[in-house]
Amino acid sequence: MEITLTLNGEETTFAGIGSESLLDILRRSGYTGTKRGCNTGDCGFCTVIVDGQPIKSCLEPAIRSDGVDVETIEGLGTQDELHPIQAAFVDNAALQCGFCIPGMIMRTKALLESNPDPTAAEIRAGLSGNLCRCTGYEKILVAVDDAASRMADETGLAADGGRLGGSQSCSSCDCDFGGGPE
Ligand code: FES
Ligand code: FES
Repeated sequence: MEITLTLNGEETTFAGIGSESLLDILRRSGYTGTKRGCNTGDCGFCTVIVDGQPIKSCLEPAIRSDGVDVETIEGLGTQDELHPIQAAFVDNAALQCGFCIPGMIMRTKALLESNPDPTAAEIRAGLSGNLCRCTGYEKILVAVDDAASRMADETGLAADGGRLGGSQSCSSCDCDFGGGPE
């Protein structure tokens, strides 16, 4: 069985599809930036974006992915030119072993594309399906908030929601990021 999907903007065909998951076919085709943790839908390490929605690719039958649009971490920035989300994670030291980070970043991308200026609570809720065994989450939550500001700067959107003449509060302070995602 063969499926064709759009992978990071390129039409890509995968052959020999059996009972594999989307994660299986990505990794066996060299897209190893998408990580396998639990393989049971619990950790979120395998998160990719399918048709604009973050999904856990270990749970997604590959056969159901024919014709969809898939984004993986390989489609974001490069070593020389990081995506703003990647840069925010690096600059805020929001990683230790890094194993959860591709999934965190893809989850963050989907969150910020649907909600460019999330509150602290919305960031927590948005990342609640992704676990990290190292960081304690604090720096990840700060990095997502920072990434929202960087992406707003790139798009020209006002990070304060567009209140003309209002006070321009810094989104990296006065936050409430204690503890981990719920
Ligand atoms: S590997 Fe998919 S959720 Fe853990
Ligand atoms: S940085 Fe190690 S699992 Fe998150």
